[in-house]
Amino acid sequence: MSDDQETTQLLLGIDFGTSRTAVMSNRGYKKITRSIVGYPKDIIGIKFLGKSQVFGDEALKNRSALTLYHPLEDGVVREASEKDYNAALELLKHVINEARQGEDVEVAGIIGVPSRASIMNKELLLKIAREVMPVAMVVSEPFMVAYHLNKLNNCIIVDIGAGTVDICGVKGAIPGSKDQITIIKGGDYIDERLESTIQQKYYDVQITRNLVRTIKEQHAFVGPPEQPLTVTLRSDGRPGEYDITAEMRAVCESIVPDIVENILTIMKGYDPEDQPEVLQNIVLAGGGSNIKGLDKMVADRLYEYGEIGVTCVSDPDYSGCAGALRLAQDLPPQHWDKIGFAG
Ligand SMILES: Nc1ncnc2c1ncn2[C@@H]1O[C@H](COP(=O)(O)OP(=O)(O)OP(=O)(O)O)[C@@H](O)[C@H]1O
Ligand SMILES: [Mg+2]
Repeated sequence: MSDDQETTQLLLGIDFGTSRTAVMSNRGYKKITRSIVGYPKDIIGIKFLGKSQVFGDEALKNRSALTLYHPLEDGVVREASEKDYNAALELLKHVINEARQGEDVEVAGIIGVPSRASIMNKELLLKIAREVMPVAMVVSEPFMVAYHLNKLNNCIIVDIGAGTVDICGVKGAIPGSKDQITIIKGGDYIDERLESTIQQKYYDVQITRNLVRTIKEQHAFVGPPEQPLTVTLRSDGRPGEYDITAEMRAVCESIVPDIVENILTIMKGYDPEDQPEVLQNIVLAGGGSNIKGLDKMVADRLYEYGEIGVTCVSDPDYSGCAGALRLAQDLPPQHWDKIGFAG
């Protein structure tokens, strides 16, 4: 890209996820917004909030006054209702407008979406994107992570998100459908199971899915515990300390067998002479890669396949959108049309 274009055009990398949307720009802007849109339930709500739509944390905070939409279900725009479509459109518009930071410039952006988004959904997402940005491209999220790490060959990306875990074999080109597997057991699945096991053990405590997710994000681990895990919960309004060590461990470990099995399936798709290198290049990404001990456990369970290298990305919140931004900067936007939506 010429310096000229670099200064006039605002380039964005966007990771459009089930639970949150991350944005980075070529002017150093970066921000994460929860993928939630709220509409006031009535006229009082509009008066109280001072607007007719609210996004992200602000929507969650004022949820009693709002009808909430999570426009991406399993990371893919549901085709069902016009409301979902509009919520996705408005959420994208909102994050892009914020990224403009008051500047009136042309915007071009690359949007990372979950690898399983069908062609139908990618077309829909591209349509939405083009309504808000004149130039846009939709690509598969794990590939964006690989691009960010500059690991464009013989590498497996395991993106542990909220809705799903996406496992993608990178082979020096934009991955095709046979290079990617999706497991419908991500962070939301862990939250669901953790909530029910805690409730089974301590039937009188009051817990919500939100509370369980917060506890998980602070304490998630696999393997032998370093110390007992006790958390403060409330029973009949009164706080108390409750031990959830075994429950946290079991629930977090429950996603490991599927991950290992599918890493092996993707690995076997490489030529045998490349397989040893692939096994040393397994990268865990997405919010779920924060689970303590997960990299070691995945490596341990693959020990019989030779030397194994499992690492975690250093910044799981932004690695996907950083890759999207880098691709936007490396590839002049006038060529994006030729690639379109890929993956
Ligand atoms: N420290 C942590 N330990 C365990 N899980 C975490 C941690 N931090 C975030 N998570 C979980 O990671 C998930 C969100 O990950 P991410 O932001 O990558 O998902 P997403 O991109 O929105 O979802 P998807 O890729 O499925 O569309 C949530 O389930 C969240 O609770
Ligand atoms: Mg994601």
